[in-house]
Amino acid sequence: AEVVIVPDAAAAGSVVADAIVALIERRPDAVLGLATGSTPLTTYRALETRIHAESIDVSRVRGFALDEYVGLPVDHPESYHSVIHREVVEPLGLDPARINVPNGDPSGILTSGDEYEAAILAAGGVDLQILGIGTTGHIGFNEPGSSLASTTRWKTLTEQTRRDNARFFDSIDQVPTHCITQGLGTIMRARHLVLLAFGEGKAAALADALEGPVSASHPGSAVQLHPHVTVVVDEAAASKLG
Ligand code: F6R
Repeated sequence: AEVVIVPDAAAAGSVVADAIVALIERRPDAVLGLATGSTPLTTYRALETRIHAESIDVSRVRGFALDEYVGLPVDHPESYHSVIHREVVEPLGLDPARINVPNGDPSGILTSGDEYEAAILAAGGVDLQILGIGTTGHIGFNEPGSSLASTTRWKTLTEQTRRDNARFFDSIDQVPTHCITQGLGTIMRARHLVLLAFGEGKAAALADALEGPVSASHPGSAVQLHPHVTVVVDEAAASKLG
């Protein structure tokens, strides 16, 4: 992987926005892989600024979210459907019909994963996948114990991840226990992975992902098998790299 160390999250956002703008200029119907959580927000804000300042045509850009909670109503403010629309689709002016989020309705337990895989395939695959990393080492919501070949499916969130994400809810009891997430195999098929991490809380997970053994116990380590990975991190997140 190419590791780029930047001063802070804002600087990372502009580096990644540059790469995405270049992609959209080359390929106006580019397929973006969209992460949620705090990490990609500076990228989305930098993209928003550039798109409006330079009148970049994003009307044909397509997108696939990485994951969704299971069992939150789709219009709950913290469903990833809501978050992707609030933080990405609306501010960037993307076409909502071209943006996909996995279906977290419990009725889809047997079908929603395969349907999502088919939709990604039909779009021709993801051109650029934005990734954060969890303190458990997850990418997407592939918690430790995720097959390197996994595709979109339900997973159980770890207690640690539920605690980490409780800040978005009134209390930890309201954080869903399950999710539907692109698998490690799905993520590996994206043509370019851009992994972001900020703060010392991510340093151990990042070092395991980039320099530890490739293992289902450290799901982020799957990126070591990918031919085109760009890692954009601040000094604190990079502090445990060798
Ligand atoms: C989000 C996702 C997760 C997050 C990770 C880090 O769609 O799939 O892997 O990227 O949990 O979350 P933050 O950025 O909030 O620290």
